[in-house]
Amino acid sequence: MSYYKRHLFFCTYQAEDGSEGCGRHGSAALHKYAKQRVQDLGLHGPDQYRINKSSCLGRCSEGPTVVVYPDNVWYTYVDREDIDEIIDEHIINGREVERLKLK
Ligand code: FES
Repeated sequence: MSYYKRHLFFCTYQAEDGSEGCGRHGSAALHKYAKQRVQDLGLHGPDQYRINKSSCLGRCSEGPTVVVYPDNVWYTYVDREDIDEIIDEHIINGREVERLKLK
């Protein structure tokens, strides 16, 4: 059994000059929001879910990106509503959010 049921990595990379990276699209704030929401739901920690920041995940032009392991499902998102949908559908109900998935 895995240590976490699912592990989410939010790319928060931003170039020092601000010219590129998922961080330009508010990913650090939305990572924080996602982590807090999962904590508030009592779902954060061993045997449950972990919400981590990450540096560049290599899909910059499709970002901001978040990847869910072990499912290997990649998403993009714009706002808190998108994050809520990923948490509610994928994390809680185990259903992938097709409209936000990266191919
Ligand atoms: S900067 Fe986010 S995937 Fe590269």
